[in-house]
Amino acid sequence: MPNAPAASHPNEQGAATDASRRAFVTLGVGALGACYAGLIGYPVYQYLATPARKAAATGAVTQTVLDGADQLPAGSAMMFKFGAAPAMLIHHADGSWVALGAVCTHLACTVSYEPEQSRIYCACHGGAYDPKTGANVAGPPPKPLTRYHVEVQDGRILVSKA
Ligand code: FES
Repeated sequence: MPNAPAASHPNEQGAATDASRRAFVTLGVGALGACYAGLIGYPVYQYLATPARKAAATGAVTQTVLDGADQLPAGSAMMFKFGAAPAMLIHHADGSWVALGAVCTHLACTVSYEPEQSRIYCACHGGAYDPKTGANVAGPPPKPLTRYHVEVQDGRILVSKA
């Protein structure tokens, strides 16, 4: 009578099952860790990369066209984007046009035009600028606003780096 194959010991089967379970758990924990790192890391990367990307986008743009902006009533202003940076176009009561960056030179808040006060105002810390020149005239801003060249041409406004 032939010998029957020796059955494996029950402890050996259990050890193999434990080893595969351990490998599965290790793989699962590793995958969860990778997902967690991605969930945390991607927003941090976006936060850190955005200023550099904005600066690159702003630096790359040299001109923007504002179609229909010549209809802007005298004594008012409109906001627009010059590249990625906020900017404002002011049509003064005397008919002149001025385009200025709308980013405060103190801590980069967005400024707004206040025609009744004849100023551009930053509500963050009370900074004020001259709406004709962009010069810093009050408060903490250390420098004037960025000034752009404005050209009215066939019903549209061309704003370019000065
Ligand atoms: S950020 Fe504008 S005055 Fe401080």
